[in-house]
Amino acid sequence: MDGLIQGKIAIITGAGSGVGHAAALLFAQHGAKLVVSDIDAVAAETTAAEIRAAGGDAIAQPCNVANAAQVDALVAITVQTFGRLDIIYNNAGITIQPAPGQGLKNFVDATQEDADRLFGVNVYGVMNGCKAALRQFEAQGGGGVIVNTASVAGLIGYGGVVYGATKGAITSLTRTLAIEVASQNVRVNSVCPAGMPTKFMPGGNSARGIASMSASHPLGRPIDPAECASAALFLASDLASNITGVNLPVDGGLSAGQSLRKSS
Ligand SMILES: NC(=O)c1ccc[n+]([C@@H]2O[C@H](COP(=O)([O-])OP(=O)(O)OC[C@H]3O[C@@H](n4cnc5c(N)ncnc54)[C@H](O)[C@@H]3O)[C@@H](O)[C@H]2O)c1
Repeated sequence: MDGLIQGKIAIITGAGSGVGHAAALLFAQHGAKLVVSDIDAVAAETTAAEIRAAGGDAIAQPCNVANAAQVDALVAITVQTFGRLDIIYNNAGITIQPAPGQGLKNFVDATQEDADRLFGVNVYGVMNGCKAALRQFEAQGGGGVIVNTASVAGLIGYGGVVYGATKGAITSLTRTLAIEVASQNVRVNSVCPAGMPTKFMPGGNSARGIASMSASHPLGRPIDPAECASAALFLASDLASNITGVNLPVDGGLSAGQSLRKSS
């Protein structure tokens, strides 16, 4: 049986770890040919090698998404290798790393450098991916799918202020760009995960980090990166053929509201 994105050519950024790694394996299982990209060249190659070892088709291409020229080159290499581009999953993202033993930085303590770094990757990185993909989609005669990784922090107040501002920018961009490019038959959606035990936050996959995420999510556990990858696959596939401009929470009910029930 064919996979959900059989024969499609897909780029995934930040695919050396966490959600991007899980999505790369899942997209390949569903028949896509992949350009696995990450700022960490070794991590990207490791993911691509895993896909090839499982019988899939993937190349690795290092790319800093904050650098528009590198993102343009990423799309160019994809087209040189596989002949076209059907799907871009703009997933790479970072947060402000707390100092050892410290919690999230308060807004007033976040520096201009912190903000520039986060906006550079989380916002301009996604814009760079969208622009480069849209130019290629147009050159191919229209059609194409963009999936972004935003965050539950782009839907509700949650986590650091600067990080939330970058993710709010992505949920807004996703809606507005979806409208702008709908006439070109391009769909634009995002996934909005809540806490995932990845390398993203130091201690995010420690017992303490997992307990804290479990307590704040109504379903009582963190999000598995594979669960976020499944949502991205759905949005990338024809199962979502009439869905655009959606920011899909993958958050164990976190953005649905707060329970008034006392926990037993
Ligand atoms: N982990 C969470 O709790 C959580 C929650 C909500 C949203 N997110 C979002 O999910 C996405 C993936 O995060 P993750 O949890 O898998 O984190 P992760 O740290 O495990 O993976 C992120 C990957 O992005 C790469 N990367 C970092 N900067 C880059 C750049 N400039 N260019 C290209 N690649 C770069 C890293 O090398 C890494 O491989 C991010 O957009 C993040 O904001 C994460």
